[in-house]
Order: sequence, then structure tokens, then C-alpha cells
Amino acid sequence: MERIRIAIQKSGRMSDDSIELLKKCGLEIPTKSRQLLCHVQNFPIDILFVRDDNISSFVSEGICDLGIVGKDVYTEDTLALENKLSAEIKFQLGFSKCRLSIAVPDNFSYEKISDIKNLKIATSYPEILKKYLAENKVEAEVIKMEGSVEAATHFKIADLICDIVSSGATLEANGLKEFSTVMKSEALLIQTKNPKFSAAKIETLEKLFARIQSVMACKDSKYVMLNAPREKISEITKLLTGADSPTIIDLADKNKVAIHAVCNETKFWEMMEELKKVGATAILILPIEKMML
Ligand code: PRP
Ligand code: ZN
Repeated sequence: MERIRIAIQKSGRMSDDSIELLKKCGLEIPTKSRQLLCHVQNFPIDILFVRDDNISSFVSEGICDLGIVGKDVYTEDTLALENKLSAEIKFQLGFSKCRLSIAVPDNFSYEKISDIKNLKIATSYPEILKKYLAENKVEAEVIKMEGSVEAATHFKIADLICDIVSSGATLEANGLKEFSTVMKSEALLIQTKNPKFSAAKIETLEKLFARIQSVMACKDSKYVMLNAPREKISEITKLLTGADSPTIIDLADKNKVAIHAVCNETKFWEMMEELKKVGATAILILPIEKMML
């Protein structure tokens, strides 16, 4: 049977999160062996562990059918190839969130973007940076570095850097501070454009896509249960964001009902506080293990 091939980052920020997503989709992946190619036991899927800057081109050339790559790297690759990349975004996966930012030494004082005019900026993302500078009508010299960009100012290779910031710890440790955000990034699932797949391969892909969607939906969804005064039902259900049609259950106390719903929300503490304000009691919020929409 024909197997689907997925390229993921072999080490680094996105690697663990990518494997975790595939495992949550039910793929059996032996964690120990990080050989180049890994056969998934229970699915006609192979995983290729590669450097992140190879992922877009592997997918574009059809060496792999799918890839999990940062939006930053994918955008850089797209710009570098002048949009000739034959790989398109299937899902924004919502993990490995970070930003690509210009950073300056701590003692560098500035007010506006034009303050970096004519300075040297070191980055691993030259195409994204050049586009950003052009859009902001600033002329500066872009110096391409493959890694250790945060050290560029120490070694006087550049005056500023443009690199990935997540927690900000790397900048702080290197005496740098953020100047401006060039782009926001997160993990993407990309796929080869116009692939010619067999029916069997399409079936595997569709199954995988449905599972990925389900895993993503679970992440921000919770099962909410609460008791409410009967006259507050409509007020309370309005606060249950994302709930399709809540279940209303009679309680022994005729003045009260129980309300159950699957809610989609990132700020559940705030939601609970609002619910309590309008009279909800015994509010329980439970994680959802799996769901199929
Ligand atoms: C990025 C970036 C910094 C670090 C920032 O590296 O280049 O080194 O993450 O993270 P922080 O703000 O949480 O300290 P990445 O993990 O992408 O590895 P790479 O530079 O080798 O690609
Ligand atoms: Zn780094």
C-alpha cells in the first residue's frame, strides 16, 4: 500500500510539538529512534526527520506529501523562491508560537523605525526582513547568518539582529531588547500543490486531516457543567461561547436547572467569573479527551 510521507523538524523548537500532534492523532511513533525515516506502525504513514529549512522544498518537490513547518521558515522559503514553491498551507496548527523581531543592544536608544537607517542587521530570515524594511521604507544592510544570530552584535558582525523570539530569554541573556515585530509565527501543516494521489492515499490523508482538526478543536474546548436559577437560562447560555446547543436538565429543586455544554474559549477563568456573577453555581470545567465534529 502506498504510504504518506510527512516531513518534520528533526530537532529544535518544533520537533517535540510536531510528534505530539501526530501521536494525539493516534499514530504510533517509536520515540527513541530519531532516524531519518520512521515507519508508523499502525498507519500507512512514514515520518521523515529533517532540518527545518528543508521541509518546504521537500513538500514542494513531492519528496514528502506533507510537512510541519514554522510559518517563519515557510514564508522565507516562499519569498526566496519568488513564490515558485509548490507547497500550500493546509492548517495553521496553533502551536510553536513565536515572533520574528528586530532586536537592538540594550543601550541602543530609538524612537522610530527610521532610527535603524543604514545600520547592519544580521538574520537567518533575509527575505522576510528585506520585505519588511521595504514596506517601512527603511534602507538598512541585511547580513545573512545561518545560526547564532544573537551573537552577531557582540562580534561586531552587525549593529542589530532580526531573530525568533519566544520567551525572550535568549535576547535577555545576550544584552538585547526587542525593537519591533516583523511577523508572528506558528506551526503550519503544508501539503504538495496538485498532488496525483491514489484513492487509498487520499483516504489516509482525509482520515489524518479529520483527526488533526479534531485534536485542534479539543485543545481550546472544555466541557462546562453548572447549576443555574431557571430564570437565568438565557443569560447564562449566552456566556457559553462556542456552545452549539447546551443541554438543560431539570434538578430536584424546581427553581434550578443544570446546564451542560462544550465551550470553545481560551479564557476559562474569565468565563467562570462572568457565569458566577449572573447566578451560576457549582461550575465545573472539564477537559475533553477526544471529539469528532
Ligand atoms: C530561536 C531563536 C533563539 C530562540 C529564542 O531558535 O533563534 O535562539 O529560539 O527563544 P527564547 O525567546 O524563548 O529564548 P530556534 O529554537 O528556532 O533554533 P535555531 O535558531 O537553531 O533555529
Ligand atoms: Zn536560535
